[in-house]
Amino acid sequence: MDRIRIVGGNRLNGTIPISGAKNAALPLMIASLLTRDTLTLDNVPRLADVALLKRILGNHGVDCMVQGKRAGQNGLSGETLELRAGDIVDTVAPYDLVSKMRASFWVIGPLVARMGEARVSLPGGCAIGTRPVDLFIDALRTLGAEIDIDAGYVIARAKNGLRGARIAFPKVTVGATHVAMMAAALAKGETVIENAAREPEVVDLAACLVKMGARIAGAGTSTIHIDGVETLSGARHPVMPDRIETGTYAFAAAMTGGDVLLEGASASILERPLEVLRQIGAEVTETNHGIRVYRNGGGLAPVEVTTEPFPGFPTDLQAQLMALVTRAGGTSKIRETIFENRFMHVQELARLGAEIHLDGQMATVKGVERLKGAPVMATDLRASVSLVIAGLGAEGETIVNRVYHLDRGFERIEDKLGACGATIERLSG
Ligand code: UD1
Repeated sequence: MDRIRIVGGNRLNGTIPISGAKNAALPLMIASLLTRDTLTLDNVPRLADVALLKRILGNHGVDCMVQGKRAGQNGLSGETLELRAGDIVDTVAPYDLVSKMRASFWVIGPLVARMGEARVSLPGGCAIGTRPVDLFIDALRTLGAEIDIDAGYVIARAKNGLRGARIAFPKVTVGATHVAMMAAALAKGETVIENAAREPEVVDLAACLVKMGARIAGAGTSTIHIDGVETLSGARHPVMPDRIETGTYAFAAAMTGGDVLLEGASASILERPLEVLRQIGAEVTETNHGIRVYRNGGGLAPVEVTTEPFPGFPTDLQAQLMALVTRAGGTSKIRETIFENRFMHVQELARLGAEIHLDGQMATVKGVERLKGAPVMATDLRASVSLVIAGLGAEGETIVNRVYHLDRGFERIEDKLGACGATIERLSG
């Protein structure tokens, strides 16, 4: 199993190209199931989760082709993927695939909308909490699907197609908003989604669906209107930049000090985290090329932050923020409100000398003067990258074990950080 070795203490200086967003690429790829025609996606990040979804879609009969590199592209440019679901050969998404990645459950929406049936394994428990699928099931039922749960599978049937309806989510859910939007795109009549997720990835999916011929208005607000159409066609769409990757490197630069340009990043989808970063003591400016994060010498200030649905502070940056404020001059408070068990990084950060007290969903982080490198264990995607940030800010050597978690969501992290002066390498095997 690969490990990452970091020797902390170097300042980061240089340019980090920001990849396409994992959390946009996954639903966009799944949208290919809605049409017989080719959906071409540009700027798809090279990640383990993307590779797994290619396999899952392949199982349903989707041809996935990677276009060759073009002039000017390098190893850090995203891929162009051509996805063609000419015929869906199988409407079953089996446990051994779905259990590896929760988002693969989302195929249930397009499959039942286009084929009138889907049999998709329940994703099972997840390291960051129970993460149920009740809201997906309620939404599909509202659209007229019959739902049965049998032997660990959710079976959705709509022999005569789905019907538009009013879906009012009792809580904000990104995944169920994606699924409801995709299913409603091919339903008969009008759907209104209330309390929809406003995350930029929902907006990106809606923009692609509109290019495919869907009639969707209001994505990015909490009320989305969809007028169902009979068929969708192919389209070409670039995956939006990854705001979580952007925020992660911005926090890393604040941790080490230095001057980093996050190339291709968009500040408008990261307002709250950048505001927090400024409060902590980094200078953040928007340039024509991306976001510049600068910190020179000054100390880090403590903050009080609560995770919330967009446009609030994202849960996917909570662990990285925590790593950063372990070295703040004072006590920070971080409240997690999205997932109930998303504090696995706390124990590992403590191994580097962090002082963190947990009380339910609230973490109190007492800043320490210095962290000291140690072997640590990655436990999930965002937790593992928080250990990289801590390692960059620690004295001496940190070894991050179980790097496969990182590879699910961060494209060539050691190359991107290494190019800015970090001492970081992958140890294979
Ligand atoms: C997506 C992101 C993930 C991010 C999360 C919250 C992807 C691939 N993943 O996950 O990185 O951390 O949004 O921004 O885009 N819930 C239910 N019932 C349901 C569905 C969700 O109770 O049927 C709950 C969840 O347990 C959680 C909350 O709703 O407490 C929000 O979850 P949701 O927004 O659905 O997260 P995901 O879409 O899985």
